[in-house]
Amino acid sequence: MKYLFSLFTSLFLLCNTLYAETWKNLIPQPVQVEPQAGQFILKKGFNSYLTSLDYENQMNWLVEKGWEKLFVFEVVAPRKVVTKQDLSLEGVFFFHEAGMEPESYRLEITPNQIRLTAGDQAGMFYAVQTLLQMLPPAIYGAQDLELREYALDCVTITDQPRYAYRGLMLDVSRTFYTADQVKEILNWMAAHKLNRMHWHLTDDNGWRIEIKKYPQLTEKGAWRGVGEVTPPAYHQGNGRYGGYYTQREIKEVIRYAAERNIEIIPEIDLPGHSRSLVGSMPQMVCESDKAYISINGETNNVVCVGNEKNYKILENIIKEVANLFPSQYIHIGGDEVDLTSWNNCPHCQQLLKEKGLENSRLLLNEFASRMENILKKYGKTMAGWEEITEGDQHRPETIFTAWHGVKEVQKCLDKGYKAVMQMCEYNYFDMKYSVAERGHNWAGIIPLEKAYSFDPESLFPDFAAKGQIMGVQAGMWSELLGYPARFIEHQLFPRTCALAEVGWTPAQLKDYDNFEERMYQAHFARLYHMGIAFRVAPPEVLYEDGILWVKPPHNSSVIRYTTDGSQPTAASPVYRATIATEQPENYRFATFFGDELSSISVGASNIDLYHYLQPKTTIETNMTFRKAQELEATLTCYDYKKVARTDRPIQAGDYLIYHFEEPVTCKRITVETGRPGISFYGVSNGYVEYSTDGTHYEKAGEFEYNQVSFLPEKAVKSVRIVITDINDWYMAEFQNLKIECK
Ligand code: ACM
Ligand code: ZN
Repeated sequence: MKYLFSLFTSLFLLCNTLYAETWKNLIPQPVQVEPQAGQFILKKGFNSYLTSLDYENQMNWLVEKGWEKLFVFEVVAPRKVVTKQDLSLEGVFFFHEAGMEPESYRLEITPNQIRLTAGDQAGMFYAVQTLLQMLPPAIYGAQDLELREYALDCVTITDQPRYAYRGLMLDVSRTFYTADQVKEILNWMAAHKLNRMHWHLTDDNGWRIEIKKYPQLTEKGAWRGVGEVTPPAYHQGNGRYGGYYTQREIKEVIRYAAERNIEIIPEIDLPGHSRSLVGSMPQMVCESDKAYISINGETNNVVCVGNEKNYKILENIIKEVANLFPSQYIHIGGDEVDLTSWNNCPHCQQLLKEKGLENSRLLLNEFASRMENILKKYGKTMAGWEEITEGDQHRPETIFTAWHGVKEVQKCLDKGYKAVMQMCEYNYFDMKYSVAERGHNWAGIIPLEKAYSFDPESLFPDFAAKGQIMGVQAGMWSELLGYPARFIEHQLFPRTCALAEVGWTPAQLKDYDNFEERMYQAHFARLYHMGIAFRVAPPEVLYEDGILWVKPPHNSSVIRYTTDGSQPTAASPVYRATIATEQPENYRFATFFGDELSSISVGASNIDLYHYLQPKTTIETNMTFRKAQELEATLTCYDYKKVARTDRPIQAGDYLIYHFEEPVTCKRITVETGRPGISFYGVSNGYVEYSTDGTHYEKAGEFEYNQVSFLPEKAVKSVRIVITDINDWYMAEFQNLKIECK
């Protein structure tokens, strides 16, 4: 995952930092930074000294990740505790100070010493993380820098977190990440002082944790595909997709996380979002033949809560989970349960009657209480999504993960439970950064500034004062992360840097402009050297009075452009001054970071870039559609937000033809399928053909990522989509043709 970076780039990034004030560009911003006169020059012969063996691991971390990357010479780090008279030596000292706040530290750099002081391992780990940020960003990369000396500006930093819980929820069900990939994410979290990973291990789309008593959960439930218990989804077409963690791997990930001060909270998402569970163990569903489709488009994904045998199975599962994970908490889900099966199941209705519940919604509360008791038996405290708070009270120590809007969350807080904030409109990093970029948008658009602006205390001032807000976490749901490769890194970064500051830095020190400056001055370079394929912000482009104006996202940004409408590459010319042109629609611009990372390409936002033609068109198809009467109007209106949705899965032999009334002469035709900008329900298996006479067709191209684009040489009479196999399971969506004029 490491980038090769050019010598020029690394030298540039190195020099940039060498002459900067080394305490300046820290993320998250510490509580107090007091610059002092002078510098400590690190050069051959300086030593590290422990005043307590407690901090040996942190000292070794600094030597390995810092000094060894930086210097051509070896740094001595003796495994012995120094005596009082050694305290005046030159070098790096690790001090223990009893009574310091958890995770807090002090970092003092004087002309002859670096002193790191903490009251616990976590605090010392963070002192080291801060010190690493004072070194050149390239120390995070694969290459050693081989310097002979390095100057640190003198400073005193006193620091502690705003919230005790600073996390990331990682959904490994919809897109699976191997144990090694998860470790890499843990590394990135640690560098940002995040200390909790909420591991969303199960959902409809895959059961990812080995349970020894029920091997079928991973033999069957970890796989999606044709004939599997979970249907193909998310661009896998007819392929088999999946994976899971063995308990051995999980133990190793837990150990690795702990080394980085990260606690892992496992989630087994119940009783909804359970397609992979009930698909593997069909006896767990309700006795009801009423069909339903959950909000996520799943059928049959709810556990029967009226079947006593299910609690025994769940207890057996929880027992293994509880034995594996040292965390106090196990998250049992509880979100988005479709009530159809409970409403129609004799066992669930019997339970409802016995308990005197008003409606099936309250069966969730009943279920959560049962789970709470099971967890208690194994020494664990329950965590759940905010839905679990509805109904009677659970134990006071139960916590919930807030995810809806302010009003809903407020109601849950009113009941007195503590909460972790993962609010959809701020913290769901599966949302888009901007309208034109890929991602979900149901909770809105989440640009970096919005992610940064999150402040739980101003949203819920009463509850903050009562200590009910434990902290914050990013929500990394993974429906859309299957492609392009490494899209998770794009969605996480730089928004996770903003979240780190939301969780760590006091509200009064938060300042977006200042944060952005620190990102551009140093932190993007750190991310780059860590090998993270982070999102690069596109420029803004306007066309006025015959001139193209480009506003880069930052004055240090490199913008490249093309003049033929294509995506700029590292070989494209650099934009240096406004461009006078009569053909602004041919220009595309993108921001580059190094040669490897670039933004989406954009043209002038105030002109029609494509001149799409709108020929009179009719539709012919053998598929059936949800809004059959509207089909033709929807697909021939040339409104690119509109889609026509089938009412059944697509299959080999299906087709859809766009017939033009008159043959159309054009430069390019693009056939896009799936939901615009989100790409669910596109065509994975199929191709496009076109005809010049409406009878004889020739192939234009195979679908790739839901799309085919072609350059017809003659006037086109018809365009035919031919389906060769299934796509994302239960429906497909078709869009208007994009026909670019010559
Ligand atoms: C959720 O987004 N269903 C918690
Ligand atoms: Zn039932």
